[in-house]
Amino acid sequence: MTWKREATASEYMYWAKTSSRARFNLATSGLANLKLQDLQVSLDDLEMTGDTGYGYAPLVDALAERYRVERECVVTAAGTSFANHLALAALIEPGDEILLESPAYEPLLATARFLGAQVKRFQRKFENGFRLTAAEIEPHLSPQTKLIVLTNLHNPTGVAADMGDLKEIGELAWKRNARVLIDEVYLEMLFEESPQTAFHLGPEFVVTSSLTKAFGLSGLRCGWILAAPELAKSMWRLNDLFAATPVHAGERLSVTALQQLPAIAERSRQRLDENRGLLNQFLDGRDDLEVVRPPFGSIMFPRVKDETADKLIALLREKYETSVVPGRFFEMPAHFRVGLGGDRETLAEGLDRLGSALDDLR
Ligand SMILES: Cc1ncc(COP(=O)(O)O)c(C=O)c1O
Repeated sequence: MTWKREATASEYMYWAKTSSRARFNLATSGLANLKLQDLQVSLDDLEMTGDTGYGYAPLVDALAERYRVERECVVTAAGTSFANHLALAALIEPGDEILLESPAYEPLLATARFLGAQVKRFQRKFENGFRLTAAEIEPHLSPQTKLIVLTNLHNPTGVAADMGDLKEIGELAWKRNARVLIDEVYLEMLFEESPQTAFHLGPEFVVTSSLTKAFGLSGLRCGWILAAPELAKSMWRLNDLFAATPVHAGERLSVTALQQLPAIAERSRQRLDENRGLLNQFLDGRDDLEVVRPPFGSIMFPRVKDETADKLIALLREKYETSVVPGRFFEMPAHFRVGLGGDRETLAEGLDRLGSALDDLR
């Protein structure tokens, strides 16, 4: 069979790295980055080389304990980004049919296309609160479907999936010998002591996550995959063709960060609760925006009534020095994504400016 890569780059990542910054940046989706001094760490905790092999044991054990899984189910990777790449690469072959949600986090879509998947889509609908249901998914499955790809919390809307709905989706997949890959990086924002994960719903589930979004620890690139042992083994072997060996100092810092996670989580939770209050207050005063308002997470995805968001976004940037993520990156150009994870002052001022830009367009 011949196949051609349908993607060799991510438009969203390019935009995020080159154009998302602004004086008032409401485009980032995670908690503001911590500094090294925010971790209680000494140079003595670091080392350049260690016994990494197929996973640095203290890191794998810490993750296995946190998610109540066997250590054989854990694969570590550079961020959720690489965890997604590695998981997809292990789960699909060129030409395989997969079903991916829409709106979607574009790098997931681009990676699947890069790997040669035939990507079918199903719509998570605004009118339905962007809820994920088995009924919406089933008509889009075929005997060829190998994988269903989802995010929970959903990027870009922040909407949480119901574990019962996910279980039903898993059953649909299981009957077809397909699997379900869920990027759970925003699920960490529920800040539970024993974080829930769809991994426990059945062997058809593979999940990815990292310390990036909920904890402001993007710089550590501490990501992971949870998968059934045989599958996890195949991912480790495949990783020998990609990254082979991780940065050991990063692994050690990640272990330290995991030990301090409860305190970091508490700071994050407080910030998000306060900032969500600010955003909700702002939204209460706007009849020109429509939005599903999730109770958790760091993002919302408003729709601009009677206007395309592009005009608003351009004005917001040029006149008001404020950035949000254009909905076109999520295939919904009437929307834009706002992030709540920054400091309160920036969010407050950015929202004021967003209000002024909306008023200008009236
Ligand atoms: C759904 C989703 N997955 C993964 C990532 C990237 O995570 P990481 O920094 O851990 O690679 C993002 C970042 O925006 C994301 O939104």
